Amino acid sequence: MSNNLGIPPERLPRHVAIIMDGNGRWAHARGLDRTKGHEQGEKALFDVVEGALEAGVRYLSVYAFSTENWSRPDEEIDFLMNFNRALIRIRRDDLNERNVRIRRVGRTERVPTDVIEEFAAAEEMTKDNTAMDLLVCFNYGGRAELEDAATKGDIASNLYVPDVPDVDLLIRTSGELRLSNFLLWQSAYAELYFTDTLWPDFDRHSLFAALKDYASRDRRFGGL
Ligand code: IPE
Ligand code: IPE
Ligand code: MG
Repeated sequence: MSNNLGIPPERLPRHVAIIMDGNGRWAHARGLDRTKGHEQGEKALFDVVEGALEAGVRYLSVYAFSTENWSRPDEEIDFLMNFNRALIRIRRDDLNERNVRIRRVGRTERVPTDVIEEFAAAEEMTKDNTAMDLLVCFNYGGRAELEDAATKGDIASNLYVPDVPDVDLLIRTSGELRLSNFLLWQSAYAELYFTDTLWPDFDRHSLFAALKDYASRDRRFGGL
């Protein structure tokens, strides 16, 4: 056993990807501003990071801002840019101590320079860490990634992080049953897990439930 969950190591997903959705609805249900939902979602994210480390997940991809999220109101976009910059700064030492490697995944185009620089500093600080790669998909779109890769020739070797293996388990919160342009190539054979839980209410125990569900799946990859 590689973990305390009772999941045999060969039944644990190497790469978990999460569409962290429902922050706005979480806030709305409480009569709060949408930004409060994002703030609460940040707490959920770091509980899940700790849970993933505990479980022994090697790669964790999280969808933080999509190429389509530019269509939101300017004030929410501004909030999300500043918020992500601040959270990388606040959390990077802690993540570094936990041997987590932080990697930004997505286009730099349109993203404020200070946000890119904050990510770059965190990437540099954590580049030799080996417990888990935290892939922060920011200004990320699956179609943009495939377009960018296709102009260079072979797709698989020109993805944003070509060394990262395919997604084994893809989780989406908030009851929406769609991919919203996330990791289209890498999720070709991912096991899908949908939950009605809104992202700010998700935590490590919710992750463990998803990991246990995954462990019971029969992956066939087109074979028998
Ligand atoms: C997910 O929560 C966070 C981002 C997309 C940045 P939403 O902001 O999409 O919350 P809902 O879907 O409106 O509830
Ligand atoms: C997907 O959530 C993007 C992120 C979680 C960053 P959205 O809330 O943007 O997706 P749609 O609009 O419901 O498809
Ligand atoms: Mg949403």
